[in-house]
Amino acid sequence: MTSRADLIVSGLTVELGSGPSCVRPLENLSFVGTDGRLMVVCAPSGGGKTTLLSVLAGLLTPARGSVTFSGRELALSSRPQMLQHRRDCVGLAFQSFNLIASLDAVENVMAPLLMTGVQRSVARRRATELLSGMGLAHRLHHRPGSLSGGEQQRVAIARGLVGDPPLFLADEPTAHLDQPQVGAMLTLLRSLVRPGRLVLVATHDLRVIQAADDVVDLTTPC
Ligand SMILES: Nc1ncnc2c1ncn2[C@@H]1O[C@H](COP(=O)(O)OP(=O)(O)O)[C@@H](O)[C@H]1O
Ligand SMILES: [Mg+2]
Repeated sequence: MTSRADLIVSGLTVELGSGPSCVRPLENLSFVGTDGRLMVVCAPSGGGKTTLLSVLAGLLTPARGSVTFSGRELALSSRPQMLQHRRDCVGLAFQSFNLIASLDAVENVMAPLLMTGVQRSVARRRATELLSGMGLAHRLHHRPGSLSGGEQQRVAIARGLVGDPPLFLADEPTAHLDQPQVGAMLTLLRSLVRPGRLVLVATHDLRVIQAADDVVDLTTPC
């Protein structure tokens, strides 16, 4: 029986653009991810990491191949099922954070919950707990502009996690961190791994790759 957060990627090919400017950042990619493990997808810059996360998040449709998560094939999903996948299954921490500049840290983390109809007081409590657990209790009411890169990174991760998604995707989570902060980020990423959740991190940072349970190298021909 398929466990709650199994990921099967098979023959995945993505084409971007059209005609002579068409690029194929992913070609015939296949791998399997298991929940309860820290999976790292590695490739150099321009190697298709963000493209892959976009497909897994249901934001980009592949030209060929299939992605199955928790027994559901994304390509066969109806539009409402795809929206449900994005809303209920996926937490995404973007490389560029994509935090809302006018909202403070707690409000940024609350936002996904409010969009799914969670009561404001409940969302605020959950966001506050999550941020406090990440060492940001003293930054709850700071806006992104007055947070360091590492703090913004943690807020972005908290926002991706607040709905307790079975698939958590982090795009280059160490890109904006100083060397000493990387160890703490690895500890944080490791703490997110649990049964029923697959944590998938895209990176070209060797320290993150070394900390992985499973590595998918996008530069290796399939
Ligand atoms: N919308 C787009 N149209 C055309 N090419 C794109 C588009 N987005 C990304 N690319 C290209 O696809 C390749 C993979 O990009 P990306 O997935 O962002 O790589 P990475 O995240 O590993 O740096 C790059 O060559 C990039 O220039
Ligand atoms: Mg990228």
